[in-house]
Amino acid sequence: MSITPISGHFHDATRPKVTTASIREQKLRREPITCLTAYDYATARLIDEAGIEMILVGDSLAQAMLGYENTLSVTMDEMLHHVKAVRRGVKHALLLADMPYGSYHVDPQTALSNATRFVKEGGAEVVKIEGGEKRADLIRRIIDAEIPVAGHIGLTPQSVNVMGGYKVQGKNLSGIEQLMRDAVALDRAGVACLVLEGIPREVAAMITAEVGTPTIGIGAGPECDGQVLVIHDLLNLTFAPPAKFVRRYGDAAALITQSVQAFRADVKSLQYPSDEESYHLPKETKAGLDTVLARKHAMRS
Ligand code: KIV
Repeated sequence: MSITPISGHFHDATRPKVTTASIREQKLRREPITCLTAYDYATARLIDEAGIEMILVGDSLAQAMLGYENTLSVTMDEMLHHVKAVRRGVKHALLLADMPYGSYHVDPQTALSNATRFVKEGGAEVVKIEGGEKRADLIRRIIDAEIPVAGHIGLTPQSVNVMGGYKVQGKNLSGIEQLMRDAVALDRAGVACLVLEGIPREVAAMITAEVGTPTIGIGAGPECDGQVLVIHDLLNLTFAPPAKFVRRYGDAAALITQSVQAFRADVKSLQYPSDEESYHLPKETKAGLDTVLARKHAMRS
């Protein structure tokens, strides 16, 4: 790493801090809400400076950053490590932290203490919990402890083994009814927003019209109040074909590969570093050193 210290005062005083209240106002104004995942300082800072309103340290961290097969393995401590890094890069956006599998499933007390860790140690402003009406009581309890909660229904990746794979939810009438019950229960519980993942556009539109809380869609069509994508999907850093709903906005894989190959070729062919990229002795030291070397050379011959 270069030894240059982190620079730039990137807090823009003209840009108001995004809050749970301001995203609710955005829904009322029908101004689309943008959300992306981030897992590290540099990416979080770039996303924040680009004006994205919500940044989620998703448990997709498991696959995107840690190379796990699914989200089930990632731990509270691993999540917290990345939430802290992202916190240092975010000044304006609302920062959400995803409660990992097992951190809220055992008992409400443990769930509350894990949610509290994200706020106290990680600096998160909202915690996200997967699951519908069966989570409503727990969500109320966490909100009672002054921690805003984001709901997440539809295709909930932590339920992959119960769902039998990553399958679009709410495709038949009973599935639609269940999703509507889930959405209404979480809205009544007071969620700060509701992620709708992997559900038909028509169902997401019905939920968005029904609930007061902003809906944030991922694979849920354009009628949601906002959209979220995993940053690795957006940048082609996933090593897998994209899901139907992903739009690639850049090719970081190609950029990294080309840059690394160019560095390798330059080092092998002695093109890097150049004289301009090298440090030099001060003139007087160089003159002194030349004299010493010339004397040594004369003594030897
Ligand atoms: O973990 C994650 O990245 C998420 C988003 C896909 C909403 O939960």
